[in-house]
Amino acid sequence: MSQDKQVALVTGGNRGIGYELINQLALKGFKVILASRNPEMGHEAAQKLMDSNLDVSFVEMDVDNQESISQAAITVSERYERLDVLINNAGVYLDKKEKLLAMDPDILEKTMATNFFGVYHVIRSFIPLMEKHGYGRIINVSSEYGAMSEMSYPGVGAYKLSKFALNGLTRLVAAEIYGDIKINAVDPGWVSSDMGGPSAPRTPKQAAQSILWLRRLDLKDRTGDSSEVENKSNGNIKSIRKKPIFKSGRLAFL
Ligand SMILES: NC(=O)c1ccc[n+]([C@@H]2O[C@H](COP(=O)([O-])OP(=O)(O)OC[C@H]3O[C@@H](n4cnc5c(N)ncnc54)[C@H](OP(=O)(O)O)[C@@H]3O)[C@@H](O)[C@H]2O)c1
Repeated sequence: MSQDKQVALVTGGNRGIGYELINQLALKGFKVILASRNPEMGHEAAQKLMDSNLDVSFVEMDVDNQESISQAAITVSERYERLDVLINNAGVYLDKKEKLLAMDPDILEKTMATNFFGVYHVIRSFIPLMEKHGYGRIINVSSEYGAMSEMSYPGVGAYKLSKFALNGLTRLVAAEIYGDIKINAVDPGWVSSDMGGPSAPRTPKQAAQSILWLRRLDLKDRTGDSSEVENKSNGNIKSIRKKPIFKSGRLAFL
């Protein structure tokens, strides 16, 4: 069934920043697919949004599981035949107060599995749907912890490395894709979710507003580039904390 409405998918959409991203995309007129690894929580979250008359549906997807990702891509392809916006939001923060070499290596491996390999496999599985229509906006939810400068300080090693690798993935994919498909990464700031905790100064609503700015990039806009490479419109790594781009409308690079 072909759709006129633009279709967006958000991973880890059952709570936190992901849930708010879905709410705002649906309010902007998108048909939004809420992806969650937990069917019960996913259905419940999607139902809550549907009860507000928003065009939201649910798909099960565990980004740690390639089979689950492939199955979700088949479902989306069959149901909607297109994907205009993909937001890789699902993420974990498993670090305790331990140094990288002292921690249980499982923590690093599990963090990389979700925050890095998960995003890699999701992009690989869904990009053919974008290529089919020659259009797509991919947004990777990164973190300031993934900045190169953060690697000079001890602590939070697993999470930092996962987001550092995610930023690299963003740039590399940006260099390899063509046409009107753009991929960028964004740091949403410190946000009051289960991950960010109650003291965080930014709400999920504010974070979602900042993140969604990237879906509006036009063909002429920057993508996947860095401070050293000008005039491209892919692979930007946008930091809310360093430059409040939501206010100034300027891109800031990590
Ligand atoms: N909060 C902050 O201050 C902050 C700052 C910078 C960046 N970020 C990034 O923002 C994104 C969203 O974070 P948040 O604050 O909203 O965190 P959150 O409240 O902890 O939510 C994380 C979401 O990711 C999902 N998830 C985790 N592993 C998954 C997997 N294997 N497959 C599918 N879904 C999975 C969770 O699903 P379950 O409910 O099933 O666990 C949940 O829906 C993350 O990428 C995070 O790194 C957050």
